Amino acid sequence: MMMDAQYDDAASAFPPLSARASAPGKLILCGEHAVVYGQPAIALPLPDIRAHVEITAGSPGSGVRLNAPDLGRAWIADAHPDDPLSELVRATLRHLGVDPPDLHITLTSTIPIAGGMGSGAAIATALVRTLATFMGHTLPPEQVSALVYASEERFHGTPSGIDNTVVAYDQPIWFERRGPAHPNLITPISIAEPLTLVVGDTGIRSATRLPVGMVRRQWQANPTHYEQLFAQVGTLVQQVHTALATGEQATLGVLINANQTLLEQIGVSSSELEHLVAAARAAGAPGAKLSGAGWGGVMFALTNPDNQAAVMTALTRAGATRVLATTIHATQP
Ligand code: MEV
Repeated sequence: MMMDAQYDDAASAFPPLSARASAPGKLILCGEHAVVYGQPAIALPLPDIRAHVEITAGSPGSGVRLNAPDLGRAWIADAHPDDPLSELVRATLRHLGVDPPDLHITLTSTIPIAGGMGSGAAIATALVRTLATFMGHTLPPEQVSALVYASEERFHGTPSGIDNTVVAYDQPIWFERRGPAHPNLITPISIAEPLTLVVGDTGIRSATRLPVGMVRRQWQANPTHYEQLFAQVGTLVQQVHTALATGEQATLGVLINANQTLLEQIGVSSSELEHLVAAARAAGAPGAKLSGAGWGGVMFALTNPDNQAAVMTALTRAGATRVLATTIHATQP
């Protein structure tokens, strides 16, 4: 997590002239949707695409002004109190124990909105971090994550918490949602060999709560069938965890493809996602699947340095509106 604050003189006057922080996008490697129902999932931060927030002191009496040029929006928090970001500013300042000061907040992001790469969680995380820095506090990841989760829960229904967690911790994680009385299980994972991934965007925007709501209705109508599907996803995630730790890339590809098949059965894939998945596999990717909530948004392919360029070309030819290559480095937790 990148953070910094600038002070106006050697005496380090407080509050500072400005503060900045950023937060990464994310990719769910495996286990989306089933994670809402208590199965494990693995998520990765995407360090190359980020949301950035800058806060400067506003003129006295100007209130909290937010400016999001990528969203084409500028507003005063008090004039739009129900806006999710206005609420998050209030909740964060309350958490920090400070009265709302006069602030000018600028939010920018290179993460596609509603594209399955955690843009909302990243913007919210960068906002909480920057507010804390501006107020002279450092919040641990679990507190940042809890503030962002409360906001996502209010506006997006029943999130598992994986998006805000991977973005706030900024490292590859194993995540299991626990009941309300227990903290979620969050464990950094071991990756023996770097993962060379290619992300392809369908260009179709779909709010997370729509497929999540459909899955809930299907699960309520047919709990036995859906719980079997979720359990199969959970088993795959365990196997992916082992394949990552041992560096078995071929096995990983097979498992990622099997997770895509289960997501199709759960009902969250789409013809556009499947077209990109098929193009990536035909170009040599040993595994490809949708990532995130589905219906639109992104898919990713596992590649290697030899076939990465071919997979990128194949995705562009197949109609991906954006193609991004990223490497997840080996880690030892
Ligand atoms: C969205 O990135 C992941 C889902 O599993 C929803 C959630 O976990 O809250 C689809």
